[in-house]
Amino acid sequence: MHPSLHNLKAYPFERLRHILADIAPPSELTHLSFSIGEPKHSLPDFLKGVLDDSISGLNYYPSIKGTDCFRQSAADWLKTRYGLKANGLDKSNILPINGSREGLFAFTQFRVDPTKSPLIITSNPFYQIYEGAAIIAGAKIKFLDSLAENNFSPDLERITEKEWERCQILHLCSPNNPTGAVMTVEQITKAIELAHKYDFTIVSDECYSEIYLDEESPPPGLLEVCEKLGNYSFKHCIVFHSLSKRSNVPGLRSGIVTGDQQLIKNFLQYRTYHGSSMSPTVQLISEALWRDEKHVIANRALYRKKFSVVTKILNPVMSFPEPKASFYLWPKTPIDDVNMTRDLYAKKNLTVLPGQFMARTSEGRNPGQNRLRLALVATVAECSEGASRIASYIKGL
Ligand SMILES: Cc1ncc(COP(=O)(O)O)c(C=O)c1O
Repeated sequence: MHPSLHNLKAYPFERLRHILADIAPPSELTHLSFSIGEPKHSLPDFLKGVLDDSISGLNYYPSIKGTDCFRQSAADWLKTRYGLKANGLDKSNILPINGSREGLFAFTQFRVDPTKSPLIITSNPFYQIYEGAAIIAGAKIKFLDSLAENNFSPDLERITEKEWERCQILHLCSPNNPTGAVMTVEQITKAIELAHKYDFTIVSDECYSEIYLDEESPPPGLLEVCEKLGNYSFKHCIVFHSLSKRSNVPGLRSGIVTGDQQLIKNFLQYRTYHGSSMSPTVQLISEALWRDEKHVIANRALYRKKFSVVTKILNPVMSFPEPKASFYLWPKTPIDDVNMTRDLYAKKNLTVLPGQFMARTSEGRNPGQNRLRLALVATVAECSEGASRIASYIKGL
């Protein structure tokens, strides 16, 4: 077996199941869940017709590279979304991935050179795959705590020269899971300058890019900042996008990876042996989704409504960073987050995720401690009811 397998930590949801296992929630209340970040809004109707058309594609092996039509649809979307004008981005440097989770994990195995004492720098709290992928790739992880004093974005100034010299991957996740923070163009620019100086790869996980509250100011992305800086081949920069959150299709397993032209070329070779092609059915559905913006706008409007309802109920009893993007709230808890999670289940039949499960202790503190991650994926009515249960629990303390 792989020697690092035993270093993998229990996944947050496994830990959640464990801490709730001995509790019988009140049966007179229906169970509500704010714990898992699984989109639940309905699928666009036009998908049904696309599914019928896709059957004929199943009698051949799909290429790892993906179809021209699939890659063109993603390239067109990226160009429009980020206002890319130079010719650096075209379908030749986009690859399909079976969800960004799989792509992020595979890219880390491909990119890390274990013979050079590799370091991966990741903000803390973080999406758990970054850590698991680093462990299996044989890299050490440096956690950068995302705290209120730096607006929940990683403070790159805290990394030493020696650490930058060892760094092979810097993970960015903007909009962020779980804090909802959005990095500014200036912060992304700084990261790119450092990547050029120290020759590491920025892996930018942008799977929440389409869920934001202000319709007039979509979160900036790594590709557009590269173009602004004249980095037209996206050197040192890799970007992951996904349809899971944008289009409410987490079961489709569809995303894309793009950016640094040389790295994408070499990653294609890695994936050829990895054997991770995307089903033609998934490619056809994905193409239709990348080409439609109507359902994405409707999706955002629904999240906006939920944020408005929930923050109104929770504002008097909890403090949290002003939600800008993603579908999470990251409130401070009045008592220990694990105890509060157990209590909410025991007394209110509501499942939430303790903030400390999304983070690791670094520099003597766990930046997720005494916070909860609330995923606003249920219906507006359920989100409102869940928030009311939290408020009434806090008032009763
Ligand atoms: C930050 C982040 N990145 C990546 C993913 C993986 O998404 P998918 O594999 O569905 O594209 C998730 C899923 O919750 C996530 O929160």
